[in-house]
Amino acid sequence: MSQQWNSARYAQNAAFVSELGLPVVTLLDPQAGEAILDLGCGEGSLAQKLMALDCQVTGVDSSADMVAAAKAKGVNAQCMSGDALQFEAQFDAVFSNAALHWMTNYHPVLEGVYRALRDGGRFVAEMGGFGNIRCITDAIGSVFAENPSWGQYTSPWFFPSDSEYRALLEQHGFVVEQIELIDRPTPLNAGISEWLRIFAEHATAQLTAEQKESFLSQVEERVKKALYSEEDGWVADYVRLRFRAHKPALKVADLLQR
Ligand code: BEZ
Repeated sequence: MSQQWNSARYAQNAAFVSELGLPVVTLLDPQAGEAILDLGCGEGSLAQKLMALDCQVTGVDSSADMVAAAKAKGVNAQCMSGDALQFEAQFDAVFSNAALHWMTNYHPVLEGVYRALRDGGRFVAEMGGFGNIRCITDAIGSVFAENPSWGQYTSPWFFPSDSEYRALLEQHGFVVEQIELIDRPTPLNAGISEWLRIFAEHATAQLTAEQKESFLSQVEERVKKALYSEEDGWVADYVRLRFRAHKPALKVADLLQR
């Protein structure tokens, strides 16, 4: 069950993803003239922000539809899977917002990011962290468990803790400067059902139209008590994992050995 993206729907009802991504851009601290890889660039909104700061941005995304939308915004984007990055020591920074939790094959992802960076280059990202959207994932799991004829549900997401991801970064040679889990209740102005249509498309891809509607209403019913109020509308239980790490700069001894 792989996730298919609809860039038009995303632009209409998921703009909050890049709007709420500004803190990680601040953590990146982009400088004019820097070469930056936007890993999982989606429809290119944050890449555009980096371009406006005179950064030389390359965007990659595994969705052809998202890449086309990013290109239409003038982003130098290409279709490439995060676990098969084809870059060698050419970026000052690799940046990623709300994408790494889709890249469950994380060892090759981290190898590719490390390889793509110049010595001393930084890796700055935000992704779903441990406990992210737990209400929603629990509800999806239980709705599938109660409807066995729909097949087995496997989550496509990876929401690591700070200590787990720190260990992975260090295992791949990065020096971790900071990493933290942040609760970020996130308003879903278009409602939970539209959120599910955009982000849990993978779960319903094999269902009939009728089963899909039933899935949406059963999940909505299950999460309503926790995520909906008259006062605030729908607010999802997002948890961010935000970090800044770097590839060590070469020491003189390393240079002499080259
Ligand atoms: C997230 O940004 O945390 C996220 C968004 C959609 C699905 C799963 C996680």
